[in-house]
Amino acid sequence: MKFPVISWVYLIAVLLCSLRACYLYWSSTHELRGAAPGLFWPQRLTTQPTYMSSTMKRNDSLTIGSEPDHLFYFIQISDLHLSKFRAKGHTLHFLHFIQSVLPVVKPRFVVVTGDLTDAKDQKRITSHQYIEEWLVYRNAIDQGANNTQWYDMRGNHDCFDLPSWESRVNMYREYGQSGLLTEEGQGLYTWQVNEHYGQYQFVAIDACPKRGPSRPLNFFGYLTSATMDRFAHALLSSWYNHTFVFSHYPTTTMVFGVSSQGYRLRDLARHYSVYFCGHFHRLAAGLGDMLQGYDTTTDTLELEVIDMKDHGVYRIVAVDHDLISFTDVRLPVKQMRKSGGSITPLTADHQILWPPKVQIPPAVLITNPKDARYTIKHKEPIHRIKDSTHIRFLVFTDVSPQDLTISVTLDGVLLETSFLSFVGNDTLPLWTLPWEPDRLAPRQQHVLKIQVRTSQGVSGSSSIVFRVDGMRSNIGGGVSEWIISTHMTTYFQCVSFLTITAMLSLLLIPKFYMHFHAQRQATQVSEKTTPLSRSRRILSQIHDIDQQTLPTLYNRLRRWIFIWALRFLRFPETQPYVWFTTFILLLAMMTLPWFRAEFIPSGATAGERYGTFYMYGLVFENEWVPIADSWMYACEQILLNGASFFMLFVWRSTTSHDIYCYGSPKAHTGKPRRQLNEYAWFKGLEVIYWLWRLSEVVALASFYGGVWPTLIQNMLVPWLIYVGAILGWGTGGLFSSAASRRLRMQDCEICQQHRHSETYDSKSDQFSMLMSDEDRCRVNILLSEESTSGSSASSTYVSPKAKSRKKKNPKSAL
Ligand SMILES: *[C@@H]1O[C@H](CO)[C@@H](O)[C@H](O)[C@H]1NC(C)=O
Ligand SMILES: [Zn+2]
Ligand SMILES: [Zn+2]
Repeated sequence: MKFPVISWVYLIAVLLCSLRACYLYWSSTHELRGAAPGLFWPQRLTTQPTYMSSTMKRNDSLTIGSEPDHLFYFIQISDLHLSKFRAKGHTLHFLHFIQSVLPVVKPRFVVVTGDLTDAKDQKRITSHQYIEEWLVYRNAIDQGANNTQWYDMRGNHDCFDLPSWESRVNMYREYGQSGLLTEEGQGLYTWQVNEHYGQYQFVAIDACPKRGPSRPLNFFGYLTSATMDRFAHALLSSWYNHTFVFSHYPTTTMVFGVSSQGYRLRDLARHYSVYFCGHFHRLAAGLGDMLQGYDTTTDTLELEVIDMKDHGVYRIVAVDHDLISFTDVRLPVKQMRKSGGSITPLTADHQILWPPKVQIPPAVLITNPKDARYTIKHKEPIHRIKDSTHIRFLVFTDVSPQDLTISVTLDGVLLETSFLSFVGNDTLPLWTLPWEPDRLAPRQQHVLKIQVRTSQGVSGSSSIVFRVDGMRSNIGGGVSEWIISTHMTTYFQCVSFLTITAMLSLLLIPKFYMHFHAQRQATQVSEKTTPLSRSRRILSQIHDIDQQTLPTLYNRLRRWIFIWALRFLRFPETQPYVWFTTFILLLAMMTLPWFRAEFIPSGATAGERYGTFYMYGLVFENEWVPIADSWMYACEQILLNGASFFMLFVWRSTTSHDIYCYGSPKAHTGKPRRQLNEYAWFKGLEVIYWLWRLSEVVALASFYGGVWPTLIQNMLVPWLIYVGAILGWGTGGLFSSAASRRLRMQDCEICQQHRHSETYDSKSDQFSMLMSDEDRCRVNILLSEESTSGSSASSTYVSPKAKSRKKKNPKSAL
C-alpha cells in the first residue's frame, strides 16, 4: 500500500519547518544559555541552601526583648511614572513622598524598583524618553532627599524606545541615582548593611532588554547568562543573615537565563530571602491587591508593591532580630490632590516647586511577632517569637510619643497597656509591650491589632495574624497570589506551540486519511462490497442519534464529537484552498519573520531603528533580543487570528442539511435546527470580529512606523485579507448561497423516505429561505460528496440555479 506522493511532500515540509523552528529558537535563546554546559537543556546544578541549622536554633542566645537594637528598616517604592503630560498622581505623589514621608519615616535607605518615568506621549500611543521627566526625578532626589541613601533601577518604561545602554537617550545612565553602579556592575549591583548583630545584602537587578522597543511590545524582562553569572556571584560568594533582591519585573514576567555554571533562578533563589518587585501596579478589578507569593521549594517570598503613581503606596520593610516584616502604607492621596501642583514642577534653573507639606497619619509596623503569612520557614529564626518577652512595633509619625494614644488588641481582647513604653529614639521609633507568648495556644492563628491615635484625632493601625508554633499561614491572596507564582512566558510558549501543533495535526491527519482511503478504495474497486466512506458512516451515525426521541447526555456528546470529526474530515475537500492557505500560514508563523517595524524610533541608524519580529524574539542587525513579548504577541495572534478563523472555516464544512435528519422527531415538530453559523446575525458577528482583528494590525502599525513597514511588510495582512474574502464569498460565506450546497443523506433510510415529501419542508419557514420554489426541480447528479469514492451514485436535489453556479465555479459547491 502506497502513501501518495503529495502526502510525503506535506510531511517533509512540516519536518523541514520544524527543524528551522528549532534552529530559530536555539539561536534566539543563545544569550540566555551562554556557555552553560549542555546544549538545549543545560544540566541541573543545585547549590546547598543557607538554611538555619537546628543546632543554631538550640544555641540561640538572642532573645527578642525591649532593647532598641537588632533592628533596621528601609523603604521600597515603585512605578513613579513621572510624566510631563499627566497630572493626576504621577509626579505629585512622588514629591509628597519625598517631602512629607521621608522626614518622618527616616529609613536607612530608599529603593525605587523601576518605572521612574512614564515616557508615554500625550495620547499614550507612542513612547519616548523625555528629559523633563528625568530632570524632575533627579532634582527631586538631589533637593529633597539629599540625606537619604537612595537606590534605583530601570523599569520597562525607562527603556522604552532605547537603542542601547550607551545611547544618549538612556537618561537613566545620567539622571538615575544608581546609573553608575548599574553600569559598573553591568546590570546588577549590590550594597550591604553591616551591623554588630548581622550582615545583610541587597541586590538590585536591571532586567531591561538591551534594546528597548517602544510600547507596547516591551513588557517582559530577561537576564542573560552573563548577568546570571554576576547574580550567582553576588548570592554565593559570601554568607549573609539575609539577602534581598530588587527588580522591576515580577519573576512571572521575567526570563532568567542559565549561568555559565548551570545555575537557574530556582538554584539561586535558595540563597535570598525576599524578591521585591513592582511593575504590575495593582492590575485591575482587584486582581492585583495581594501580589505576594511564597515558593516552598526555594523558601522565598516574592512581594510586589502597589504603584506610587496612582495609589501613592510605599512599603516599609523592617528586619528585627532577623525576622522580616513589612507594611504597605498609602499616602493621604485625597488631601494631596486638593493642594494641586503643576505637571512639571520645575523652574528654569532646575529648582523643584514643592507642593505644600501634608501631615501623614501614623504608620504602624509590627516587628514581633511576625506575620505568619510571610514566614520564610528556614531562613528566619521563627522560634524567637515564642521565646520573646515583648511585643515590638514601630510607629512612624511626626507627633511626639507622649501625644499618642495606643491600643493593642490580641484575639479581640484589649490588652492592658500600662507597661507599654516608647523605648526608641529619633531614628528608631520603637515601642514595646511585655507579653507571654507561652500562654497562647499553639497550632492556631492569633490576631494582633495595634491602633495609634494622635491628639488631633488622626489614626493609623496595623493588624497581623501570627502563630507561636513556627508554622506558616496561608497568604490568602487568591487570584493575585496565583498570578505572582505563575510563569507567564512558559505559558505563552506552551500555548503557542500546542496550538500550532494541534492545528497542523487537524489539517494533516484528515488529509492523509483521505489520501490513504482513496488509495484503498482504488484497489478495492473490483470487489462487490465497497465500504462506506468514513464520513458517510459518521453521518449516518449522527442521523441515528437524531432519531432518538430523548438522546442521553452521552449520545449528545457523541453526536457533537461526530459532527466535528465530520467537519475536520471534510474540510480539506470542501475548502481545498482555505486548507492550503491555513497550512502555509502555520508553517510561515513558525519559520518566517512576522513583520518588520520601526521599534526604536530614537535609534541613530536604520539598523538601530528597524527590527524584525519573530515568534521567538526580535532581531536587530542580526542580533537577537529574546524579549518574551514576542511570545505573548504570537500567542495572541495564533489564537485570535489563526485558530479562531480556522475553526470558523472548519465549521462551514457541514451544513445543517447534511446533518439534519428528516426522520428525526424534531423534524415532525416543524422546527428543524440550523447551525449557529448559518444565521445571518452570526455571519455579521464574524465580520465584526474580523474587523476587530484587522484594526489590531492597523493599531500595531500606528505604534511602529505606520503603513511602511509595519502594515505592508506584515505576514498577517495578506492572511486577514484572504480571511475577509473567504468570510464573504467562501463556502457558506455571507454572500454565497446556501442552497447551492444542499446535500441529502442517502444512507439514512428514514431520510430517504422523507425525500418526496418536500412540501413538508416548505412549510417550515426555517428552510424556506434556503429553498425557494424555483429550486424545487429534481435533478439527478452524481453525489459528489465523496468525489474520490466513485462507489455510489445517487440522486439528490440540487436546484438548477445551484447547478449552473456549480458549473461555473466548481469549488464553491459542496
Ligand atoms: C546573623 O548571623 C549570625 C551568624 O549566624 C548570628 O550569630 C547572628 O545572631 C545573626 N543575627 C541575628 C540578628 O540573628
Ligand atoms: Zn509601571
Ligand atoms: Zn513596568
